[in-house]
Amino acid sequence: MKLSAISSGLILVVSLAGCKAGKPGGLERSVITGIKHEVTIGGKDWKNPVADTEEAQKEGAEHFQHHCQICHGLDGQNSGVPFALKMSPPVADLASKDVQEYSDGQLKWIIENGIGPSGMPGWKGILEDDEMWKMVRYIRHLPAKGSLGTPAVFKEEAEQHEEMEHEHGAPQKKDEAKPHTHSH
Ligand code: HEC
Repeated sequence: MKLSAISSGLILVVSLAGCKAGKPGGLERSVITGIKHEVTIGGKDWKNPVADTEEAQKEGAEHFQHHCQICHGLDGQNSGVPFALKMSPPVADLASKDVQEYSDGQLKWIIENGIGPSGMPGWKGILEDDEMWKMVRYIRHLPAKGSLGTPAVFKEEAEQHEEMEHEHGAPQKKDEAKPHTHSH
């Protein structure tokens, strides 16, 4: 009896972890999301001055992959970013409903101002307005999750880890690895 309670608890944890909608603290999070959407994030009425063309999306993708991939992955969905879910709050999945429900203006506002005090930096003075608006166009047309692979910087790291595991002969599954606290 006890055992089955434990194992069904485990199954619950595993299935929650595998389900994007079931993030821990769902209620608290949805309240925060509501406040963000209605109050804190500005730019709701700003209109995107950049036409929604393939070229704009492509340019937006290039800027995105230059500045944002380190946290958001090449595809905006955190693919291959090892710390994305360990940040507090975790790095947002830009294809998620919460993010896609922002207006274009709000997305531009977020890029410009960042979200303090989270890890999302603001890019005022670093990116031009039209670069940010093009990124918004890219965020509206993100590729399938994982389709662009792992950012190069993490690819090397992943390979090094594999080598290390190989050398030490530890048949450790990636998912079971302890959170890394080293900085680089
Ligand atoms: C240092 C890591 C980091 C970088 C670099 C970064 N972001 Fe973020 N981003 C985050 C985190 C963390 C969040 C989640 C913030 C939250 O939920 O409060 C986030 C959230 C977002 C959101 C959603 C906001 C929300 O309310 O959920 C958008 C849109 C976004 N980032 C766009 C970008 C763009 C575009 C770039 C590049 C110009 C970028 N980010 C660069 C860490 C980063």
